[in-house]
Amino acid sequence: MKILVTGGAGYIGTHTLIELQKAGHETVVVDNLANSQKESLNRVSELLGGVEIPFYKVDIRDREGLNRVFQEHEFDACIHFAGLKAVGESVEKPLEYYENNMSGTFVLLDVMRKHNCKNIIFSSSATVYGDPAVIPITEDCPKGHCTNPYGQTKSMLEQVLIDIQKADPEWNVVLLRYFNPIGAHKSGRIGENPNGIPNNLMPYITQTAVGKRKELGVFGNDYDTPDGTGVRDYIHVVDLATAHVAALKAIADKKGLAIYNIGTGHGYSVLDVVHAFEKANNLKVPYVIKPRRAGDIATCFCDPTKAKIELGWEAKYGIEDMCRDSWNWQKNNPNGYEV
Ligand code: NAD
Ligand code: WQD
Repeated sequence: MKILVTGGAGYIGTHTLIELQKAGHETVVVDNLANSQKESLNRVSELLGGVEIPFYKVDIRDREGLNRVFQEHEFDACIHFAGLKAVGESVEKPLEYYENNMSGTFVLLDVMRKHNCKNIIFSSSATVYGDPAVIPITEDCPKGHCTNPYGQTKSMLEQVLIDIQKADPEWNVVLLRYFNPIGAHKSGRIGENPNGIPNNLMPYITQTAVGKRKELGVFGNDYDTPDGTGVRDYIHVVDLATAHVAALKAIADKKGLAIYNIGTGHGYSVLDVVHAFEKANNLKVPYVIKPRRAGDIATCFCDPTKAKIELGWEAKYGIEDMCRDSWNWQKNNPNGYEV
């Protein structure tokens, strides 16, 4: 298939480009580089043995810009990663987040419809479950209350896509609810490149290990979990990437609307991750216990059975692989893509 990848220069996008190309698909990237650098795509090309992926520096809110891309290419489907994703920043800048994520997706969907491309895979998030009603979380679990504007955009955009598909059954909509992506391509050439002080656990661990941060703050050790720290379903970003290739099957099968949890089904606590990282890489990560972080929940991990049955997809990598590959990326690129 020929696939438009919005946000393809970012963390998950770059890894997905590699898996799509390896599976024989043709890809085109649209990204405004708001949270990424062109260098990431140079590295993707390098990892693909020199294959150049067409890149358009276009903001998805720019209707004319997007139209031009669709005039030059006939797409079978779009994988829609483009969006702002920092939870804390979304609380401080709600309007910017709603505007970018909502308006951007509205323009994209309208341009897709105009060019008769009605197949989309959307990057959703476990955050739509809020504080989950059941663990492990199945796709039938009711959506919950999102405590931040970022999460609201994911939840609302899911609804927008559901309504569009209901009104026009020619659409095939796949909602992938990612759990906690970490890790990097095993080459260490591409990986996660957060701006400023990382919000997420793994980048904070790797930046502490590389000496950029003094110590990791563990946000609370009084949760109702085996060791008191928060439990999450960490998934290797390469497994997440292959889930997108597998999700194209739901489009080929003309499923209409399909929703999948994309996780491993295993929950690890913050301290489990710290200890796995230390063991996998034979180093120490200093940490201190801090108060709970506002909006956090105790436990979140999924039942990924539906994706296995319907898409034939399941995660292959374990926590050791994730810790090894995250560190391999960080130690080889202490400043991310900046040379
Ligand atoms: P990322 O920031 O690395 O990648 C997103 C890309 O979108 C960036 O390259 C950015 O420049 C681009 N972008 C943002 N707004 C744009 C716009 N208006 N026009 C064009 N490009 C734009 O993030 P990621 O971790 O790769 O996440 C990809 C998607 O997955 C996002 O939608 C994110 O919300 C979602 N997601 C991420 C996680 C996670 O933990 N990383 C979890 C669940 C869902
Ligand atoms: C994991 C655990 C923290 C940092 C977020 C978004 C979610 C999705 C994935 C985009 C928690 C603890 C963290 C630190 C810590 N993103 N922690 N010290 O909160 O599960 O999910 O990222 O879609 O929408 O909410 O991930 O990596 O921030 O936290 O103790 O410095 O690590 O309290 O228990 P989270 P995370």
